[in-house]
Amino acid sequence: MSAQVAANRFIERLNTQVANEFGAQQQYIANAVYFDGHTLPRLAAFFYAQAVEERNHAMMMVRYLLDSGAKVAIPGVQAPETDFADIVAPVALALEQEKHVSDQIAALAAVARDENDYLSEQFVQWFLKEQIEEVSMMSSLLSVVERSSETPMFIEDYLAREQSRERGPDPTAPPAAGGAL
Ligand code: FEO
Repeated sequence: MSAQVAANRFIERLNTQVANEFGAQQQYIANAVYFDGHTLPRLAAFFYAQAVEERNHAMMMVRYLLDSGAKVAIPGVQAPETDFADIVAPVALALEQEKHVSDQIAALAAVARDENDYLSEQFVQWFLKEQIEEVSMMSSLLSVVERSSETPMFIEDYLAREQSRERGPDPTAPPAAGGAL
């Protein structure tokens, strides 16, 4: 293990954020399974893929902690919501979750700046950008789902079109511990 280079306050909060990202992963798996159980395969595929993204976010943070010579404590994860009133509810929850994560990442950036920890500040920049994309994507999906909640096949068609022009791997993404999935 190399000498620790990141500020202690940042390391503490980043360890907490690892738990939040794994929590987001579990919630998206729960969303995916709900949609899979309702025979809405595109919505299920969307959330299965988002769950992998959240897992990768957690593992990027783990990689950064390891590379910084910091202590990494792999956390237990809070149980996700699994009972949904209708097909809108999991998407509304996902948007709330993404907005919440955006606030958490902004708070991480603030701690790094406050501690004059420039490397950590640079590390969180990618996540800030990622959150803008994720909030925007989830917000669009929620509009579509709310508009077509009585005709879910429209939502499936929308996702089929969106998924066909899916973004490829992001070369600017931080490395993940063990490699990104
Ligand atoms: Fe990793 Fe979508 O928050």
